[in-house]
Amino acid sequence: MNEYHLELRNLSHRFGGLQALTDINLGLKRGDIAGLIGPNGAGKTTVFNLVSGFYVPSEGDILLEGVRINARKPHEIASMKIGRTFQNIRLWSEMTVLDNIRIAQHYRLGYNAAEVFFKTRRYREREAEITRSARELLEAFHLADLAEEYPRNLPYGIQRRVEIARALSLQPELLMLDEPAAGLSTADVSELIDYINWIHDTFKLTIWMIEHQMEVIMTLCHTIQVIDFGREIAKGTPEAIRSNPEVIKAYLGEGTI
Ligand SMILES: Nc1ncnc2c1ncn2[C@@H]1O[C@H](COP(=O)(O)OP(=O)(O)O)[C@@H](O)[C@H]1O
Ligand SMILES: [Mg+2]
Repeated sequence: MNEYHLELRNLSHRFGGLQALTDINLGLKRGDIAGLIGPNGAGKTTVFNLVSGFYVPSEGDILLEGVRINARKPHEIASMKIGRTFQNIRLWSEMTVLDNIRIAQHYRLGYNAAEVFFKTRRYREREAEITRSARELLEAFHLADLAEEYPRNLPYGIQRRVEIARALSLQPELLMLDEPAAGLSTADVSELIDYINWIHDTFKLTIWMIEHQMEVIMTLCHTIQVIDFGREIAKGTPEAIRSNPEVIKAYLGEGTI
């Protein structure tokens, strides 16, 4: 097994004339819970979008188990067992909670049109299996009673949980969470921390999260990387980061550390 589950080497990205990221380096070990923090506009979501295949890096490399995965499409990245959630929740609002989970798995299994049209036995068996495992997941996330609800009618905290359950339905080994606590109440935040711990222990995942709520980051993360204006300004344990003068300076005025 490679030393790192995921590694970034001198990752840089430009949007036209805007240098959004410069020489980002990182090594995530299997089973790590790592944080990526920094002021608004620092480039955090761009790092996630590069790793999950939404953009192709201008320079540098992304390595999964030592294999370069630059320039793969998002569905290829998902099939490589990298799952993610989004800063702005992306659920299908016209589908029930159950179908939001089921459709993600259709994507994973890949049907051909003829199978769907003729509803072959294999298709029906897989459908039943998908529904069963989706319900299991909802059960585990205490969402079973909401299976037939539409996400738009649910409180924000619950929508977040549905989105995390959906990401897990693709059986990722690396789970990337982009500001999972954004917009949550204090009670929802402590519930989220418990869920993330539970997910980490139960599914033995590597978890990488962007977060502004320092309670979440400091409680969960083993290591933290801080970026500002697209460059790393610090990397280390929560204790080291909390007292790092560069970090404190970057956050002055943001009031979130
Ligand atoms: N698709 C894009 N096109 C052009 N500029 C972008 C795009 N996405 C992000 N940016 C810019 O890149 C910088 C970093 O953005 P982002 O990664 O979203 O920051 P963060 O997640 O840390 O708040 C910002 O200046 C933002 O405006
Ligand atoms: Mg962001």
